[in-house]
Amino acid sequence: MALRIGDTAPNFEIETTQGKVNFHDWAKGSWVFFFSHPADYTPVCTTEMGRTAKLAPEFAKRNVKPLGLSTDTVEQHKGWINDINDTQETILEFPIVADKERKVAELYDMIHPNEDQNATIRSVFIVDPSHKIRLTMTYPMTVGRNFDEILRVIDALQTTDAQEVACPADWRPGDDVIIRPTVSNEDAKTKFPQGWKELRPYLRFTQIEK
Ligand code: BEZ
Repeated sequence: MALRIGDTAPNFEIETTQGKVNFHDWAKGSWVFFFSHPADYTPVCTTEMGRTAKLAPEFAKRNVKPLGLSTDTVEQHKGWINDINDTQETILEFPIVADKERKVAELYDMIHPNEDQNATIRSVFIVDPSHKIRLTMTYPMTVGRNFDEILRVIDALQTTDAQEVACPADWRPGDDVIIRPTVSNEDAKTKFPQGWKELRPYLRFTQIEK
């Protein structure tokens, strides 16, 4: 069965470009951006890998470790990383899983046979420090992911973990947030002393520190 939000991200031990990784040990205390791509030496993936590498300071700021995966070998990955660094003008420093036997791809349901019989599609799993899956996204082979959205959703998850709020459509850090309907107006007075704007009893906007 496909993995769902709230599930524990299954553990695995596998070779990567940075040696053997036990997923839960490696992830300990961090958020993880775990993503699969169809194959090494493919054009869209090359740009996605470059973008992930360039965003290293943004991921680090949010306590997020990126982890890539495709069903190629460590040697193939390493050769391709040279191309990525060259063509995308970056230095890729995060590990890429070498899932030649498709063990992790199957564990995470990353192969969608009606799209491609063998290759992993563009899956994303955002995993929190307690190893819980907090977001899944699935993109087709021919469409690269939007990394602004990946950072935005991590910001939103970290914001809604910190306070009893929710993030409205197209929310960006600094925008107003919504006080959750489970918070009564009485409780809101202490939790949100800055006040709020009530459009409906269930739709209350407030401003929080960025
Ligand atoms: C790519 O990652 O570049 C790609 C993979 C499969 C089909 C088309 C593009």
